[in-house]
Amino acid sequence: MEKIYGVIGSPISHSMSPQMHNDLFNFYNIHARYHAFHVEKGNVKKAIEGIRALEISGCNITIPHKIEVMEYLDEIEAVAANIGAVNTVVNQDGKLIGYNTDGNGFIRSLHTVIEQSALQHANVLIIGAGGAARAIFISLAASGVKNIDIANRTIEKAEMIISDCQYEVNSVALSMKDAEMNLGKYRVMINTTSIGMSPKVDELPISLQHLSPQSIVSDIIYNPLQTKILIDAREKGAITQNGIGMFVNQGALAFEKWTGIFPDTNRMETTVTNILG
Ligand code: ATR
Repeated sequence: MEKIYGVIGSPISHSMSPQMHNDLFNFYNIHARYHAFHVEKGNVKKAIEGIRALEISGCNITIPHKIEVMEYLDEIEAVAANIGAVNTVVNQDGKLIGYNTDGNGFIRSLHTVIEQSALQHANVLIIGAGGAARAIFISLAASGVKNIDIANRTIEKAEMIISDCQYEVNSVALSMKDAEMNLGKYRVMINTTSIGMSPKVDELPISLQHLSPQSIVSDIIYNPLQTKILIDAREKGAITQNGIGMFVNQGALAFEKWTGIFPDTNRMETTVTNILG
């Protein structure tokens, strides 16, 4: 019987996940389809009951349901529990298990520019303290990276992520100004804010005046593919990466949990860049 997978969110019509996963199901000859399910806030519980009743094999969860969905699942994997958000559900013979592949997807993508052994000794700066920052911070900490600071406009939100973290870290919450002044000490800088996203493409989350030319600058935004921070950082000599890798790898890790196959991420990247044009 054909297996059914999908993504639950609102808005959902522009999700690239259906094309990305359906291409993989075809490529690996897996008899399955992946659908976009539009689920409004307030209907998550019913949607999860639907997954059980319809015996849907697995799904991704996206905005705005990643936190609420946890209440309705049978088991939450430890890192997802510490993040406090789930983006992937596996239906294991009727038991719904929640995972978060956003943070580890980001780390896999970061490994294309820095090895884990170097990352473990690197000073890392995360800019922003929303849901994406939380997933990345906790996952980096769980992977053994200890020197991860967070800069945010609202510093209390950065402090909260650090104090919630159950893994050992030497982290400081910074104001944006303090981060700017101390930028030179960071080997890796990650923008998780929406600053620079289309249509406001001329905005920078932070001044790059003190950026080290030896640094790596990663932006989780992929629209546009090259944000101002990436363009300016490259001009200063830094290595840069956009958010396509995180998106593709969170999907690849979900696909692996559902099928046991870690898919070809280059192929996924081609699918996604074709959609983005
Ligand atoms: P996500 O879940 O995608 O990470 P989010 O939870 O809305 O998104 O978080 C957005 C992040 O971008 C926050 O860190 C936010 O800063 P605040 O916590 O101070 O709100 C940051 N952000 C968004 N717009 C910003 C702006 N114009 N200036 C500074 N920070 C901004």
